[in-house]
Amino acid sequence: MTSKTDTKPQAMAHADEVVNLETVASRIKNGQITRVVVLTGAGISTAAGIPDFRSPSTGLYDRLAPLNLPYPEAIFHISYFSHTPEPFYAIAQARHPGNLKPTISHTFLALLAEKNLLHFVFTQNIDGLEQDAGVPVDKILWAHGNWKSQHCWKCKAGYPDDLMKKAIREGEVPYCLKPECGGAVKPDVVFFGQSLPLEFDEREKLVLEADLMLVMGTSLKVAPCSRLPRLVKEGTPRILINMERCGDFGNRIEDVCMLGSCDDGVRKFADELGWREELEALWQSAVEVKGDDQAFEGGSSLDECIAKVASQMDERMKISYGHKRMLESHLSNKLAQIMAKPVSQD
Ligand code: OAD
Repeated sequence: MTSKTDTKPQAMAHADEVVNLETVASRIKNGQITRVVVLTGAGISTAAGIPDFRSPSTGLYDRLAPLNLPYPEAIFHISYFSHTPEPFYAIAQARHPGNLKPTISHTFLALLAEKNLLHFVFTQNIDGLEQDAGVPVDKILWAHGNWKSQHCWKCKAGYPDDLMKKAIREGEVPYCLKPECGGAVKPDVVFFGQSLPLEFDEREKLVLEADLMLVMGTSLKVAPCSRLPRLVKEGTPRILINMERCGDFGNRIEDVCMLGSCDDGVRKFADELGWREELEALWQSAVEVKGDDQAFEGGSSLDECIAKVASQMDERMKISYGHKRMLESHLSNKLAQIMAKPVSQD
């Protein structure tokens, strides 16, 4: 079976071999491929119910328009968060992975690990669904951090999990418990303007050891993860499973571009590998195992959260316009009084 979604003419890796999904699968089956390095992004979790960032209209950044942010990414920029953390907390509940289940794409990674083929996963996602699907933690780098812990952005003091959950559930900003500090608490996700985990530089070298790179559900717009696929050695196959072509995919003769959903892509891949039944069974059990977090049950939708904070910000703007008008009229009255006073000649 060949991949229906290959978008470029079949390329030749060696003089006599076409590189496509089928040939990659047969190299896995005959043991030529044993180290698969994976890079994932938000598109792998959209089927779990978390919108990605940059898809037009459905992505988070377009949907934040009612908030009139200076630019959409500001919501995740440390310098913006340091003075205006409200928008982040307004949407935090709708982005929190509390009640999300892993997708079949996450489970495909767990199956690669079970088969001793998974060399490493770099994920830009903070939802932890790779781990929920069964990928061993020592095989994952959460390049953009995760929700598991939190600290004051200013003094770095820790903050209790139960209070954090409450803040997220209620959409309220949690503040540092040290009264003299007053900084907002931030989950340990990596914001723009912050450094990636130190481990990243070390783990990056694993890409050079890959004999297959699989990239799923990312626009490859954010460095440094965006540079990982380019580090793969020439001659090594790279598979992209994504709604759109991205990065330099398609430039190498060993590239296989499967444009479409991640879930369809991994099912096709599993079919080629003869793993389909095993994959579906593993996915069912991963979904059953992950319980719901009561703290996040019955929360508002993303658009409801955005509408709520937009109206609060509107109110605040009205108040500050009100203050501005009051000040202006106060100052102009004062000025009028000063101007009306006769000028003293002495
Ligand atoms: P993006 O939203 O930039 O890209 C998601 C990609 O996945 C797009 O190319 C979509 O077309 C594709 N996509 C969406 N749903 C899909 C599906 N079901 N199947 C296949 N493809 C799908 O998200 P990332 O590349 O992950 O960082 O974004 C990288 C970083 O930018 C994020 O970690 C976040 C963001 O700002 C921070 O917040 C620091």
